[in-house]
Amino acid sequence: MTLTDTRRQAPEAVVARALTKVYGQGDAQVHALRGVDVAFATGAFTAIMGPSGSGKSTLMHCLAGLDTATSGTVHIGDVELTGLNDKQLTLLRRERIGFIFQAFNLLPTLTAEQNIRLPLEIAARQPDRLLFDRVIETVGLRDRLAHKPTELSGGQQQRVAVARALISKPQVIFADEPTGNLDSRSGAEVLSFLRTSVRELGQTIVMVTHDPVAAAYADRVVFLRDGELVSEISAPSPQSVLDTLMKLEA
Ligand SMILES: Nc1ncnc2c1ncn2[C@@H]1O[C@H](COP(=O)(O)OP(=O)(O)OP(=O)(O)O)[C@@H](O)[C@H]1O
Ligand SMILES: [Mg+2]
Repeated sequence: MTLTDTRRQAPEAVVARALTKVYGQGDAQVHALRGVDVAFATGAFTAIMGPSGSGKSTLMHCLAGLDTATSGTVHIGDVELTGLNDKQLTLLRRERIGFIFQAFNLLPTLTAEQNIRLPLEIAARQPDRLLFDRVIETVGLRDRLAHKPTELSGGQQQRVAVARALISKPQVIFADEPTGNLDSRSGAEVLSFLRTSVRELGQTIVMVTHDPVAAAYADRVVFLRDGELVSEISAPSPQSVLDTLMKLEA
């Protein structure tokens, strides 16, 4: 790649090339990723789907620098993640990446507001008052800011986690089954907040999900099978996602 290539403002927020991940050794080897090429556009909401064990979480963890790939490259914007040492990785995760997990991972002794501000405190960054207000409006938490996580419903806790991910304006948010622990109504709420943050804040989101209804909130769905990217659809509906999944399982 030439210097000009690496310096241009990439329209893709995240790019993986020829990504492989092998767990274990010898007979116990598992090829979780077998050469994945995929790019995630800036300001787009993308879902990753596929059968259990197809490599979705592994892909997300390698893209987010939570796990190291066996070979291949990952770029977050213009930074090659696969070339960084542990310290640089920690910084990159803190400054450019947001996370939302199935378990909400909130700190129980902090209020909702303190949880949301935590990433900024850790990075010693000044909170952007305007952005804070917009995020709180977007996720509808204004009257819950002083509550501790145990005083909130599951859906509200996940909305706090979404707000916490949004507040540092990360280049990309990775979400692994963000609605996995929620009833369908709270799940729909969280998904529509993710959708709104893409539309109104220009946020880039990559979400792993099992649920065709959840995937249909995305702009694009990519499908994994046995560690390979095998299909993708744009402007998905629950039915088109389901149809594609059925074809993959056949
Ligand atoms: N730490 C590990 N050690 C060994 N094998 C692993 C490890 N983590 C994952 N695997 C294997 O890698 C493959 C892909 O796993 P991964 O967790 O990425 O799948 P997934 O698509 O997220 O599945 P699910 O839908 O069940 O969450 C599976 O065969 C799994 O058993
Ligand atoms: Mg998984």
